[in-house]
Amino acid sequence: MKKIIFYALMLSVFAFAISACGGKKEAPANEVKTETTTTPAETATAAVDYTKWTPNFENGKKIYAKTCMTCHFAGVTGAPALQPEKYKLEDWQKRADMGINVLMTHAINGYTNPVTKNLMPVKGTCVTCTEQDLFDAINYMYREAKAVFKN
Ligand code: HEC
Repeated sequence: MKKIIFYALMLSVFAFAISACGGKKEAPANEVKTETTTTPAETATAAVDYTKWTPNFENGKKIYAKTCMTCHFAGVTGAPALQPEKYKLEDWQKRADMGINVLMTHAINGYTNPVTKNLMPVKGTCVTCTEQDLFDAINYMYREAKAVFKN
């Protein structure tokens, strides 16, 4: 009888050892999981700071004339306009107040105005434009509009 109890005891110790071992194995798997979930967040906070970029106004003028002008000259579909008859400093300045980083994000990804539902299309429809091209075009347009970026 004592022997049976002894074996039962050994068995439970053994079972405990296995479960403890299994528990230990899960721990590194969890650690890996946390690492993979934090990586995208870190990438997001390390976003580009366009305030440190230098605009090429000549290139910006070309990009504007080739693409952006379609809407941003006469204010088509509610775009802020440069055409003297349609131009209002406020249309540009209220956007410039958001800062170049927000404007770049909206130009790259496209932006739907939450109030008017007016749409700035992805890259202003200039699919071949690089970020520098968009940056140059925005700087050119806002300079023409006499609007000043708040940051
Ligand atoms: C098909 C028309 C169209 C074209 C082409 C276009 N835009 Fe726009 N864009 C708009 C409209 C409409 C808005 C206003 C959206 C709103 O009401 O906030 C806008 C707004 C913007 C804004 C301000 C975004 C904001 O947050 O208010 C920027 C910056 C901009 N455009 C850059 C560009 C650049 C650079 C180009 C050329 C590469 C371009 N757009 C071409 C329609 C256009």
